Amino acid sequence: MPISLIILAAGQGTRMNSDLPKVLHKVAGAPLLVHAMAAGAALAPDRTVVVAGHEAEQVRAATLAQDETALVVVQEEQLGTAHAVAQAAPALAGASGDAIVLYGDTPFIHADTLAAMIAARARHAVVVLGFQAQDPGRYGRLVTQGEMLERIVEFKDASPEERAITLCNSGVICADVQLLLTLVAAVGNANAAGEYYLTDIVALARARGLSAGVVLCPEAETMGVNTRAQLAGAEAAFQARARAEALENGVTLTAPETVFFALDTVVGRDAIIGPHVVFGPGVTVESGAEIRAYCHLEGCHISRGATVGPFARLRTGAELAEDVHVGNFVEIKNAILDEGVKVGHLTYLGDAHVGEHTNIGAGTITCNYDGVFKHHTEIGANAFIGSDTMLVAPVRIGTGAMTATGSVITRDVPDDALAIAREQQVIKPGFSRKFFDRLKAAKAAKGR
Ligand code: UD1
Ligand code: CA
Repeated sequence: MPISLIILAAGQGTRMNSDLPKVLHKVAGAPLLVHAMAAGAALAPDRTVVVAGHEAEQVRAATLAQDETALVVVQEEQLGTAHAVAQAAPALAGASGDAIVLYGDTPFIHADTLAAMIAARARHAVVVLGFQAQDPGRYGRLVTQGEMLERIVEFKDASPEERAITLCNSGVICADVQLLLTLVAAVGNANAAGEYYLTDIVALARARGLSAGVVLCPEAETMGVNTRAQLAGAEAAFQARARAEALENGVTLTAPETVFFALDTVVGRDAIIGPHVVFGPGVTVESGAEIRAYCHLEGCHISRGATVGPFARLRTGAELAEDVHVGNFVEIKNAILDEGVKVGHLTYLGDAHVGEHTNIGAGTITCNYDGVFKHHTEIGANAFIGSDTMLVAPVRIGTGAMTATGSVITRDVPDDALAIAREQQVIKPGFSRKFFDRLKAAKAAKGR
């Protein structure tokens, strides 16, 4: 059955006290909105509609960066969650099957939970995701009678008896897509907030003799972000889960509480991650690779048997083949290192390709930027780059070639050649002694 995903992301998030719309604040390196989209994407939806409002253009850009097939509709005025869903109607014309409504500020709903809601649609026309709240606070309350969900009452509109209910509304709702659109069109705004509540569709469905039910999930999944403190709490919750999952999957974390993962980090079995390692977006670490302490990685791939760090920085486009060694204080950006390459110390490799088993000496720098353009450095296999070589790109070092320590290489080096590009050493006998004697004498004369 086809599935449509509707993600509500129009709110400003006033309590974030931010110029950035709330759904674009990040947890684990990804906007909150992207977390919701990723959970929904696991259902392989036919259509994904994001309802944007505040800073709609920024929200549109983030949506399309994640899924270029997603549709973005704009809710000009934020008149309530039912009104927000109604804005998706044109984008859902002709759609059939079920629709799931998610909130862009609720990042941790599991794909399995959404699948359970779809399954529960066999029993109910409208399925709501509920949870038992430790502190029900201002959540909407689920009013049930046996298995049947009768209605949802918002905190502002609830009686004292209703406020005593601890079964709360997560906000996630599933129903036939066309029924959902019919019901939201019928919602009014005669309530304490003067808003069009999506939650009213339950009572409307019941009034039509349709059944409604609740699927339960752990409260942790329904955690929403409204404040910076909650954003920090969401980050902590994400990291705690990601660390536990990594350990479960056979990854060694020497000090789990100091390692930070991104939403899309992939680490293979038997990889070893030392203390204080930070994964930005887009990192894959294959089985058996080792990342030593204090590394910062993003947009890179580390193959089996490679070792990285301590204190290394791998940036976007760093590709390390098997058994590559990258040591301390090395930065690599947009560079492919073939099998067995060694870059031990204090080096910058940017916009480069290094052939297999080449050794890069300490202090090597690819001078890849002329102030306007970036240029490529090509280093062949089995080459030896002497310590403190400046490779002024564009430049090519041949297979099996060598550069002398301290060279500034501005021209291509042929295969198997040695390039020396530095001053000849000059010896001046006795110079040092005479030089300092003169300076010391001058200082003594001044002191008198
Ligand atoms: C909503 C639910 C409440 C539930 C709670 C769970 C309603 C009426 N209430 O309340 O039952 O317990 O979520 O967190 O639905 N949004 C729009 N356009 C609007 C209004 C909201 O896109 O016009 C978006 C917001 O950006 C947000 C989401 O919808 O992502 C939820 O809106 P919010 O105002 O936070 O609803 P709550 O009052 O928290
Ligand atoms: Ca909310």
